[in-house]
Amino acid sequence: MIVILDFGSQYSELIARRIRETQVYSEVLSYRTSAEHLKQLNPKGIIFSGGPSSVYDQGAPHSDPEIWNLGIPVLGVCYGMQLMVQQLGGGVEKSDRGEYGKASLEIDDPTDLLTNVEDHTTMWMSHGDSVTDLPPGFELLAHTANTPCAAIADHDRKLYGVQFHPEVVHSQGGQALIRNFVYHICNCEPTWTTAAFVEEAIREIRARVGDKRVLLALSGGVDSSTLAFLLHRAIGDQLTCMFIDQGFMRKLEPERLVKLFAEQFHISVEYVNARDRFINSVKGITDPEEKRKRIGHEFISVFESESKRLGPFDYLAQGTLYPDVIESADTNVDPQTGERVAVKIKSHHNVGGLPKDLRFKLVEPLRKLFKDEVRKVGRSIGLPEEIVNRQPFPGPGLAIRILGEVTSERLNILRDADLIVRQEINRAGLYHDLWQAFAVLLPIRSVGVMGDQRTYAYPIVLRFVASEDGMTADWARVPYDLLETISNRIVNEVRGVNRVVYDITSKPPGTIEWE
Ligand code: XMP
Repeated sequence: MIVILDFGSQYSELIARRIRETQVYSEVLSYRTSAEHLKQLNPKGIIFSGGPSSVYDQGAPHSDPEIWNLGIPVLGVCYGMQLMVQQLGGGVEKSDRGEYGKASLEIDDPTDLLTNVEDHTTMWMSHGDSVTDLPPGFELLAHTANTPCAAIADHDRKLYGVQFHPEVVHSQGGQALIRNFVYHICNCEPTWTTAAFVEEAIREIRARVGDKRVLLALSGGVDSSTLAFLLHRAIGDQLTCMFIDQGFMRKLEPERLVKLFAEQFHISVEYVNARDRFINSVKGITDPEEKRKRIGHEFISVFESESKRLGPFDYLAQGTLYPDVIESADTNVDPQTGERVAVKIKSHHNVGGLPKDLRFKLVEPLRKLFKDEVRKVGRSIGLPEEIVNRQPFPGPGLAIRILGEVTSERLNILRDADLIVRQEINRAGLYHDLWQAFAVLLPIRSVGVMGDQRTYAYPIVLRFVASEDGMTADWARVPYDLLETISNRIVNEVRGVNRVVYDITSKPPGTIEWE
């Protein structure tokens, strides 16, 4: 394992993913993690992440100086390198001019960390401070036009520093450098593979659960579906999958999901039709937050009664992923152990919101995985592509894509429009290129004309976005002809709609969903 100590960098998770791409397991821990705790974890190497501070700022994050005496190889990235230099007796100063963006790396020592990294390769920089004096025992490995110390090493102690960010995609030699660190310097073995993960997860689930019963709330998304497959493989019929139909899913999706699981995969699903309860719970509600809150409460209430009806269960399976449990520099972490104190809890489908008398023990077999790793695991245990590559769909479903009050009439209109969007996006071969492509219904009416008749009906908004992770997004530049086809079909085929508009707002300042 490689441990990444996070000093508040936006790239710490990315470093972990890059390490895992080399088939070596990695975890992100807080910079406060003690040397003692690290010694117990016994990682093969440690990476100090970048961070927004200057090492001289008051309150700048400093790691336990005993880490330098552990004999474990360390790679410091950006702030991580500056901290290493400062703690080991070198000099760091504010530069006259910072360096941001691409820089050409001029290599002084092409061995060791920089083996197979080409001279003049492009690396990505983002720093105001620079290393001016190397600590005793260190040598220069590379420089750039603006940064005299771009890569440094103390070969004997296996301590390395780079001013640039090898983890970002713009750094051409970045992955080669990471491989050198992981394999040649830390002597890791390529043990982090999907097959090894599945085997280990199944063993762990069996050991934890024994002969007890497990409940899983299936949503149809890739996380809960992968979880269902994995658990079913581990414990068979001790698993009960429950699917609560809120009535806010896309057209034919609930039926398709239950059929797929039951007929194709022989995993039976307890289908709970709660459509009336949910629509009643949001009757007359127009405020988006209030809507979400009520749907969340209703979910918990249905979950509670249904789990009692189907139970008793000892365990609840949850699709918690690694980004939900990651220790970043700004969460509360116990300084002694590096363990999380406050746990981030995801969405309303979570046990965090369940009443106290309904306490389950948790099974969270995906908690070590990033989303792309969940997809790989899902695929490897037979999950079909239509689920593995499904575009994200919010927990409250179409209810937050109908602005204003949610009614059955509006749900039907949106479902029909949404189906046309899906069909045409698929036909154009764009489904996998887009992060999301969906329809939104606005609760206003505008005037139109159809067959000499004046119409007064709802507009549909098309929201198509490109994104890497949903945190930022850009509106998608799809062909006009496709927009025309979708617009024509919606206006002609969906009663109650007479106008289609295209949302050209990026995120920020807009969000992807409209509520
Ligand atoms: P926004 O609208 O905040 O959405 O830009 C970012 C991503 O999150 C999804 N989303 C949700 N997912 N429960 C979920 O499970 C929710 O309540 C929820 N709200 C938004 C959204 O579809 C997008 O992918």
